[in-house]
Amino acid sequence: MEQRRFKALVVREDEEQQFQRTVEERRVDKLLPGEVLIRVHFSSLNYKDALSANGNRGVTKNYPHTPGIDAAGVVAASATAQFKEGDEVICMGYDLGMNVPGGFAEYISVPSEWVLSKPTGISLYETMQIGTAGFTAAQCVERLISLGVRPDQGPVLVTGATGGVGSTAIALLAKLGFQVATVTGKESAHTFLKELGAVKILTRKQATGRVGAALLRERWAGVVDTVGGDLLAGAIKATQYGGVVASCGNAASGDLPITVYPFILRGICLIGVDSANCPMIRREEIWQELADSWRLTVLDDLTTRISLDQLNQFIENMLAGRTKGRIVVDLTGVTGAAT
Ligand SMILES: NC(=O)c1ccc[n+]([C@@H]2O[C@H](COP(=O)([O-])OP(=O)(O)OC[C@H]3O[C@@H](n4cnc5c(N)ncnc54)[C@H](OP(=O)(O)O)[C@@H]3O)[C@@H](O)[C@H]2O)c1
Repeated sequence: MEQRRFKALVVREDEEQQFQRTVEERRVDKLLPGEVLIRVHFSSLNYKDALSANGNRGVTKNYPHTPGIDAAGVVAASATAQFKEGDEVICMGYDLGMNVPGGFAEYISVPSEWVLSKPTGISLYETMQIGTAGFTAAQCVERLISLGVRPDQGPVLVTGATGGVGSTAIALLAKLGFQVATVTGKESAHTFLKELGAVKILTRKQATGRVGAALLRERWAGVVDTVGGDLLAGAIKATQYGGVVASCGNAASGDLPITVYPFILRGICLIGVDSANCPMIRREEIWQELADSWRLTVLDDLTTRISLDQLNQFIENMLAGRTKGRIVVDLTGVTGAAT
C-alpha cells in the first residue's frame, strides 16, 4: 500500500515565479502521515482551489502543492477505530488543499478529526456536487432561517449567482419556498438561473444602487452574499427592517463601504459564515439536512463533471470568471485503482 503510486495535480513554482500545474505520479508513503488514508473518488473545484493553484500565498504557503479543499471517497487505511477500511467518507476544509496535499489526487492522508462519515441518502458524487461551496450556501440559508427569515417576508437576494455558492444557494432557497432574487454579471446565464429557481435577475449595477447613499429602498428579507464590496454594501442598504444578511465571500472585494445606519435604523443583522473551520457537530447537522429534507434534485443541472486532466483548464476559467455552477472532479477512473 505505502509504495502505491497515484495521480495528483501538482502546482510548482518555476524560476520566473510563475506557477505551473501538471498531473504527476506520487507515492502514498510520500503523503504527510495522517490517521486516515482515503482513496478519493470525487473532489470539486472551489474558488479557493483556483487561488491555491495560482500561487496565492494567502491560501497556500509552500509549493510544490496539490490543491483541493474537498474530497469524498473510501477509507483505504485507518489508524483509528473511528473509521475502518471501506467506509464512505467526506473530508472538507480545515487545512486540506491549502497547506496539506488536497483532493485533486487519488489519495489523501488526513487527521481523523477532519473526516466525516457520509450520511445515508446521498451519494459520494452528490456530496461533491455540493462540496464546500454548496455546504457554505447551506450554512448561509440555515443562518437566515434560524435568525427568523421566512418565505412570506419577501425576496431573498443571492449575489455571485452563477458561482458555486450562489447557484446552490438559489436552488436551496427555492426548494424551501423562498422567492429568490439574484445578481449576475452574466447575461447569458438568465435561463440557467431561472431553471434553478430564481424569479428575479438584476444586473450588478441595479443591485448595488446609489454608491454614496446610506440607505436604499427596502427590498430584501434576507441576503446571501458571496462577493463583498459595493454589492454587499448595496444589499445591506436595501435589506428591509429586521432582515438578515449572510456574508461568506469576497469574489469582488474584501471591502465593505457602508455606514452604521442600516443597523441602527432598520435593525438588520449581518452575519459571517465560514466553512473551513466549521465545528464537526455543525457539519454533521448540515450534511444530514442536505441528505434528507434539503436534498436538491437540480444538482445535475448545475454540475459539470470533469477529469483530473481537464482541471487545469477549469482553474483558468474560474480565475477568469468564466465558470458556472459546480465543477466535480472525477477521480474514479484515473488509474483504474479505485477501491
Ligand atoms: N466563507 C467560506 O467558508 C467560503 C466557502 C466557499 C466559498 N467562499 C467564498 O465565496 C466566494 C464565491 O465562491 P464560489 O466557489 O461560488 O466562486 P465562483 O464559483 O468563482 O463564483 C463567484 C461568482 O461571483 C461573481 N463575481 C465574480 N467576480 C465578481 C465581481 N468583480 N463583482 C461581482 N460579482 C463577481 C460571479 O458570478 P456572476 O457572474 O453570476 O455575477 C462568479 O461566478 C469566493 O470569494 C469564495 O472564496 C467562502
